[in-house]
Amino acid sequence: MKDRLEALRVEALAQLQEVADAGRLNDLRVHYLGKKGQLTEILRGMGGLSAEERPVIGQVANDVRAAIEAVLADKQAAFDRAETARRLAAETIDVTLPGRSVAAGSVHPLTKVTQEIEDIFLGMGYTIAEGPEVETDYFNFEALNLPKDHPARDMQDSFYITDEILLRTHTSPVQIRAMKNADGATPLKVICPGRVYRRDDDDATHSFMFHQIEGLVVGPDIRMSDLKGTLLQFVQAMYGPQVQIRLRPSFFPFTEPSAEVDVTCTQCGGQGCRMCKHSGWIEILGCGMVHPKVLEHGGFDPEKVSGFAFGMGVERIALLKYDIDDIRHFYNNDLRFLGQFARM
Ligand code: DAH
Repeated sequence: MKDRLEALRVEALAQLQEVADAGRLNDLRVHYLGKKGQLTEILRGMGGLSAEERPVIGQVANDVRAAIEAVLADKQAAFDRAETARRLAAETIDVTLPGRSVAAGSVHPLTKVTQEIEDIFLGMGYTIAEGPEVETDYFNFEALNLPKDHPARDMQDSFYITDEILLRTHTSPVQIRAMKNADGATPLKVICPGRVYRRDDDDATHSFMFHQIEGLVVGPDIRMSDLKGTLLQFVQAMYGPQVQIRLRPSFFPFTEPSAEVDVTCTQCGGQGCRMCKHSGWIEILGCGMVHPKVLEHGGFDPEKVSGFAFGMGVERIALLKYDIDDIRHFYNNDLRFLGQFARM
């Protein structure tokens, strides 16, 4: 039995020397040391041994097991090291490589200006109201004191969908919607930002689609001086405290009296330059006291309340603020243009 054990040791160690991979190593482990392995097989014969022989053979068997296990462990460690080395080589990361920068987007200048205008009016206690871009003739014209065949409809060449439905030509219809929603409650203070559409030929200052922000205040005893103070507050927040405004008489069917508002030229500070055609002033918006008929359409009694309204073009405000010379820059989405507003 002792000879068989010694022979097993020699055979096993010789086989183990040759092993080239972890799979084969495991096969040999099972073959020699497993439950049904060679060593167990030999030790089955222990029963037939005398009491003196048994511990001697037992000792030899333990030595053989220990010797095989030692080589198995060595081999296993060597395979593990080789595997680790292989993975380190395959998964090498060069931490000295410069990183790939992620291109960050930026807020569109029109969005930026819109948000700025909204912030200024929110700070004065206004809320924001929105209305549909596809609008009825009633809200876009009729309720704003522009009955069918009114000559002032020609000022806003419209995209009609049917006789009664069109793309809104201004944000003024949201005035009517906001008044109806208020259900006679005052004070009503809203601004209404949004897209508007006109059948214009596109050029440096015109676009078939552009953006407006409407303002409306309705309450007891609202006066023209409230309008003027509000607008002065607004332009100074927008362009700086040095900027002044002036109101020129004008006409809009939905306001009476009506005015156009100029600001001190943002380019020359009022000295006169090419941008302001040497007048020192630049027009930025239309406004006036809400016409009694418009208040009535909104569900208010013009004998009891009054109101003011104004409407401005966001593109125009942005052109002046950023000194841009062509409205089309806003729509072409050229990243060289848009990127300039990333950190402003
Ligand atoms: N809706 C006018 C336009 O698009 C602008 C305007 C003028 C709005 C006077 C107003 C206003 O609210 O009072 O040309």
